[in-house]
Parts: sequence; C-alpha cells; structure tokens
Amino acid sequence: MSIVGVEKLVYGSADLAAGVKFHKDWGLDCTRENSDGADFELADGSVVEIRPAGDPALPPAVIDWAPWGRSTVREAVWGVDTQSSLDQLVRALSGDRDVSVDADGVAHTRDDFGYAIGLAVSRRKPIETPTPNPNNIGHFSRFNEPAVGSRREPPQPLAFSHLVYWLPDDPKPYRSFYMDKLGFRLTDEATDGSAFLRADGRTDHHNLFLQRSRDGYSGFQHVSYEFRDFDAVMMAGLAVEAEGWKTNVGPLRHNIGSSLSWYVWNPAGGVAEALTDQDQISEDWQPRLIDPGDPGFYGHTWVARKEHVGISPAQWVD
Ligand SMILES: [Fe+2]
Repeated sequence: MSIVGVEKLVYGSADLAAGVKFHKDWGLDCTRENSDGADFELADGSVVEIRPAGDPALPPAVIDWAPWGRSTVREAVWGVDTQSSLDQLVRALSGDRDVSVDADGVAHTRDDFGYAIGLAVSRRKPIETPTPNPNNIGHFSRFNEPAVGSRREPPQPLAFSHLVYWLPDDPKPYRSFYMDKLGFRLTDEATDGSAFLRADGRTDHHNLFLQRSRDGYSGFQHVSYEFRDFDAVMMAGLAVEAEGWKTNVGPLRHNIGSSLSWYVWNPAGGVAEALTDQDQISEDWQPRLIDPGDPGFYGHTWVARKEHVGISPAQWVD
C-alpha cells in the first residue's frame, strides 16, 4: 500500500470572499465558483475547496491558535495508489475508529488528535515541467537558450508538498497513527518530539510535519505547494504581496529539508508556502535528531529580509 501525497484540502473560511480571492491570486485554477464556495485545481489535478466556515457539511473545526479564529482546514484527503490499498487501509483503520466511505469512494476518519482526514484513490496526473538548466561556472548546461525563469509566465502551483499541524503537547504519541497505520516514515525528528514524516509512496523530505507548539496551539498550521523553481517561488510571492496579502516569512532557504520557501498568511486558514528544491530521501537516509533551539542547525540558512531574521513559519508578528 502507498500513500502518494495530499490529494485535496477542504477549508472552512470565515471570510469566504477573501479565502477565494487569495487562492486565485496564488495562481490556482478556479474550476467552480458560486455562493457556496469555490473549487481550485493544481497542475497535477489535486484540489483545494474553499467553503464558508459555517457550512454544516464540513467536519467540525479543530483549532486553538491565537490569533486565528474559525478559518482552518476542515479535512485533508491523502491520495492512495490503488483501490486495493485504500480497501486495506480502511480495514486497518476501522479496528479502532469510525471510518465512513462516501458515494465517491472517499474514506473519512480522524487522526489520534482529532484532525479530520480522508483517503481516496489518487487521480493526480504526472507533471512535465521545463528543466531550469542553470549555468554555473564549470557546469554550463544551457547554450543559445534563454533561462526558463526569464520567461514572463505566471507562476503555477504544481502539486502539494506537505502539511503541518500544531500539537499542543508531545507529538510522539500522535505519530504512531501516521507511521503504524498509514505507513509514513520518519525523516527527521526534534528533541521536543516534533516529527518530519514522508509518505510511503513519496521521497520528499516531508509530506507531513507534526510540530509541537511552545504556545500550546493546535490546528492546521500550513500547506506547502511545490513550484517549478526558485523563479516561480519568487514570482508567486511577489504576486500575492502585490494583491495585498501579508508575507509571514520569506523568501528563504531552510537548512532542514533544504527548500527554498516563501510563506504567506492565508485568509482561509494558516499559512500557504511556496516551495522548491527540497531534499529527496531514500531508504539509505538516517533520521537526524534536531535541537529546535540550535540556530546553527535549525532554521533558515538565509532569509531575504532583515525583519524576518529569527522568525519561524507561522510565527505571528504584529
Ligand atoms: Fe513547510
């Protein structure tokens, strides 16, 4: 059985119009919109749904995160490689929790903290993107050809990379649901129990980060979208800033996972991250133990704006 990544996110947004506009500005393709909300597609066919926070069809919100109110992800649906894998997972989960399967074959349940998750046979499509082909001294890979990043093309979110959830206490007890039941593997962990996990059908540094909140917060913290390259990340961040949306932190280079990232507050809930160039992990990898208080090991290798030095993803700064 393989979980192959995030398939769909469903937000309940206290300000529906703002939640919808943000995702248009983020570069997502709006496939449906009416007074009940809007649906968006990434390039690989994965989906974002924005609904009003009061929509009774949504699972209840699980969030206690000042300064956020009712806006949050209400369900995250993970894609599974085959119907047979999905059936196996549903049987395994049904042993100790309620699992319902809807008319579309999507299974719905909750993790051990109470966050609503779904499982569905993946319908995502392979993505083909032009190779950036950088020219570095001694490694020229592009002759007689302008750089891909020099094209005046709108940046496009290609696929989901990862999700992050706050946990108000030690995340270790909550890992087992994802690792033992859903097959996630540990890539790196922190001394406070926070865990970077990758799905068994993926090689990204992490597809899920369970992060302990020093402030006791719970709730969906951020979603990361994979973009073609750093040019696309920069263009996406600049485009949403130009529309008035507020950067949380970025652009920057992480040293854990190595991604080039830009985080923007999302009015539908939490933060949206534009990401590229993350580490890929094989079975040869040995998980590392990270001290989150060690600035030499954890945090940003560089950040473009001096006011963001020392600011973490999802850290609210007035
Ligand atoms: Fe992230």
